[in-house]
Amino acid sequence: MPTPSILVTGGAGFIGSHTIVALTEAGYRPVILDDFSNSRQRVLDGLRQILGHEVPCYVQDCNDRTALLDIFQRENIGGVIHFAAFKAVGESMDEPLRYYRNNLGSLLTLLEVMLETGVSNLIFSSSCTVYGEPEVLPVTETAPVLPATSVYGNTKQVGEEILRDVVAAGKPLRVISLRYFNPVGAHPSAHIGELPLGAPNNLVPFITQTAAGLRAQITIFGDDYPTPDGTCIRDYIHVMDLAEAHVAALRTLPQDGTTSHYDVFNVGAGQGISVLEVVRAFEEVAGQKLNYRIGPRRAGDVVAVYADATKAHERLGWATKRSLREALADAWRWEKALL
Ligand code: UFG
Repeated sequence: MPTPSILVTGGAGFIGSHTIVALTEAGYRPVILDDFSNSRQRVLDGLRQILGHEVPCYVQDCNDRTALLDIFQRENIGGVIHFAAFKAVGESMDEPLRYYRNNLGSLLTLLEVMLETGVSNLIFSSSCTVYGEPEVLPVTETAPVLPATSVYGNTKQVGEEILRDVVAAGKPLRVISLRYFNPVGAHPSAHIGELPLGAPNNLVPFITQTAAGLRAQITIFGDDYPTPDGTCIRDYIHVMDLAEAHVAALRTLPQDGTTSHYDVFNVGAGQGISVLEVVRAFEEVAGQKLNYRIGPRRAGDVVAVYADATKAHERLGWATKRSLREALADAWRWEKALL
């Protein structure tokens, strides 16, 4: 019997592609399923350069039950990491049905196929967005899950609930949800990184594109928040550290015959960093000034959120290894490789 493979849905995406590297380095055999709706062939080329071989890749929609069943059987799938989802907060408010259909439909299809084929191990991509504006910082996994402020955020909350309910019903499923904080950076080789299609929504790709001259200026969304320098505070985590958390989570899933299991972990670096601090750190790392202006607040932004990742440290045996500066240097190297 060959080694069971790990199906990585959305494996050509930003976090997915870095997780392919981490899985391979840890001795797993990953298989990508991705519809390339928010990715490009270039990611597969980059993975081949890093790993020295092709990664099996199926260009399929995760909502396609027949395709999923076929892949599970053909590839001897032994576990799944489920990234495939739409993730643009603003767009989710304009197209709620498309978001609910895609993000929840794909999860339901995947779960049905897993139960049908007897595959139990699942790592689910969740988000710190489930905490909304937390009352206590750093935020722990026991903090209340607040009503979602975006359709995207709600797909993550409902996704977690679906998983909890299926496990509570005693179905043979062992699940870990990882609540990501803000992933940044790129693989240090600069062969893979974030590939925003169109104008980036997120801070770091906007910074690197501005520094590279692709954008004239970056706007900092508000400097009148109740924080030390007036800008919002987030927990930025190197995408390779985040990728490695998935490997740690897979390894932690019970091997002792427990058939139903659900748990949730924060995956952040644990440090609250302001937008201006990110800008200053980037300027130092890149050795150049960034053209920025202070603009109005962006609707929907929380003031401050950062993780207490003690549970992941203790139970997953995982910790971050890379600094924000390394992440910014890697993101900058990647941006220059794209020019
Ligand atoms: N920001 C700017 N200017 C920009 C872009 C961002 O000032 O051009 C600021 C934002 O206002 C925020 C911080 O930089 O204060 C980080 O913004 P990002 O868009 O990079 O990240 P968010 O914290 O808003 O988003 C993250 C995840 C999303 C998730 C969201 C929900 O990336 O997937 O949290 O809380 F939906």
